[in-house]
Amino acid sequence: MSTKKTAKAKNIESVLKEDRKFAPDPAFSKQAHIKSLAQYRKLYNASIKDPKKFWAEQAEKELLWFKPWKKVLEWKAPDAKWFVGGQTNVSANCLDIHLDGDRANKAAIIWEGEPAAPGLPGEERTLTFRQLHREVCRFANVLKKHGIKRGDRVMIYLPMVPEAAISMLACTRIGAVHSVVFGGFSAQSVADRIQDCGAKMVITSDGGFRRGSVVPLKQNVDDALKIKVKGKSITKTIDKVIVLQRTKNDVKMKRGRDLWWHHEIDQVSDQCPPAKLDSEHPLFILYTSGSTGKPKGILHSTAGYLLGSKLTSKYVFDLKESDVYWCTADVGWITGHSYVVYGPLANGATTLMYEGAPNWPGPDRFWNIVDKYNVTIMYTAPTAIRAFMKWGDEWPKKYRLDSLRLLGTVGEPINPEAWMWYHKVIGKGRCPIVDTWWQTETGGMMITPIPGATPTKPGTATLPFFGITPEVVDDKGKAVPKNTGGKLVIRKPWPSMLRGIWGDKKRFIETYWSEVKGSYFTGDGCRQDSDGYFWIVGRIDDVLNVSGHRIGTAEVESALVSHKDVAEAAVVGRPDEIKGQGLVAFVTLKGSSKASKELQQTLRNHVGKEIGAVAKPDLVRFTEALPKTRSGKIMRRLLKQIAEGKEVKGDTTTLEDVSVLTKLSKESAA
Ligand code: WT7
Repeated sequence: MSTKKTAKAKNIESVLKEDRKFAPDPAFSKQAHIKSLAQYRKLYNASIKDPKKFWAEQAEKELLWFKPWKKVLEWKAPDAKWFVGGQTNVSANCLDIHLDGDRANKAAIIWEGEPAAPGLPGEERTLTFRQLHREVCRFANVLKKHGIKRGDRVMIYLPMVPEAAISMLACTRIGAVHSVVFGGFSAQSVADRIQDCGAKMVITSDGGFRRGSVVPLKQNVDDALKIKVKGKSITKTIDKVIVLQRTKNDVKMKRGRDLWWHHEIDQVSDQCPPAKLDSEHPLFILYTSGSTGKPKGILHSTAGYLLGSKLTSKYVFDLKESDVYWCTADVGWITGHSYVVYGPLANGATTLMYEGAPNWPGPDRFWNIVDKYNVTIMYTAPTAIRAFMKWGDEWPKKYRLDSLRLLGTVGEPINPEAWMWYHKVIGKGRCPIVDTWWQTETGGMMITPIPGATPTKPGTATLPFFGITPEVVDDKGKAVPKNTGGKLVIRKPWPSMLRGIWGDKKRFIETYWSEVKGSYFTGDGCRQDSDGYFWIVGRIDDVLNVSGHRIGTAEVESALVSHKDVAEAAVVGRPDEIKGQGLVAFVTLKGSSKASKELQQTLRNHVGKEIGAVAKPDLVRFTEALPKTRSGKIMRRLLKQIAEGKEVKGDTTTLEDVSVLTKLSKESAA
């Protein structure tokens, strides 16, 4: 890998330099929606010159409207209203519009269940658009029957089964606001979220399968509904609990409160006209914690969100009628909302859902699914890719993988080594990679390659999507020159932007709208290279300061991961009397590599060579695993406390595996 030091900067220094560049394959470009960089630039420039015109044209072309809007945008920072006066419905745009023509009997959802035991095939189900429409109408009628009205909040706590999508779409059909909670979260998290949004109903299942065992979802809901604070229930807004039968484990059903899904849908009609909802009608609340603080209920609204997820899905995945598209995210995350359910279905695409884990029953599970369904587009996270690398090439090598034509990533900066591995071992050098930068708050992709148009470079999300205006700025909010690090902001409003934090306007303003006046603050550190490509260098809160040099975590970590023995790395700062901060690197090794004193030294020198002496870690610590959020992001905040020799404090409820932390703390004490 070719990395070298770049010029000194006032702000965050960008030290990683990646020179590899991959032009789109002409054969891919020829068949793509957007066929060249020139075409992208022309469309992008027009979209930026007159964003209202651009978004109005797209909304007209892409969405079904019951009533046309009067005004494209009402903008008084930080409050945006898009397509004011218009009426539409998300479920109608994902289902009804596909029922008149050839798509009616096309697969909308292909679902692969987790195999019950090693050696057994996974269960499978396919729902056509017509079948999905029917199920959504029936379930919408169940919601209505049990008193759910427009604007009421409904909590969805389900495994990755088609009923998760059905529940979401049923809510949108009648204008109820869903809040999906990831099935890996605890009873306490469920209770906190019910309390925060005042949900009236919970939709759950008896259990969910995970690596061969049953996650007791209904039991968790029962426990959540019992939680009291100072003698008072915090979940008293809940009136009904609907329970899907999935695992058939024993559950207690509370009379008058708990209802079986399969009983309920048998008693209602399969006709349910979509509610005509205002463009700005709230669509869903999704809690995000990122890696710090109390979860925020991010609020999205109807028309703008739908337009964003539809348009980005179409152009970034280059969706075509024949694609089998697989986004591996859980519906409990924004990626699952925008790119498992809403975006693909709005485009009439076939979306694949998988219930289980990537390494159960074996580390080849994903590749087995790709071949089984001839998946053409795959969208996953860097954390998963690094895990696949660690498990070894022999697993994907057992499979054809020749149906794949496009690969995507999201969630974290992808280390160039992981990008190259994805490109070679999974894509066989044939598939464009779209590294998509966006956030729960942005609703849809913001910075991303357009696969037939944008030359890619490993490690960068490249250029902005149509109508999006990112900029890298200094502490005063002024744009910084190219190749200088700074804060990433978005200058102008866009349709799928968040509309607020549920019940907390103050925090909404403080978090996103106070850093740089009039602009949306992303919280990410970034630099633009000479081609104008955006390189995310990590969260601003994690930025390291060594001898006056401000360095992003992503770059030092990528340098470590570029060493042949390293699978994954996290870098944090600890106080240093001389340098201000010294770097501590937590490193996990590949299967075949052994931890040793020599390797510690080798890795320090490796970073020195790749980046420069300033970024050399003072300490390299080997660990079996890194503490991560349940969506796979490394929690550097916790590692920082360990590196400083402090007791780990603060919110650890979003941690995927608490034992990782206990182990790390113990090793420190030893
Ligand atoms: C944060 C948002 C967006 C859905 C999943 C995560 C980081 C996300 C990238 C990328 C570099 C990325 C950023 C961002 N991030 N995608 N392609 N390159 N960084 O959503 O949990 O809201 O997290 O994830 O730091 O701000 P989220």
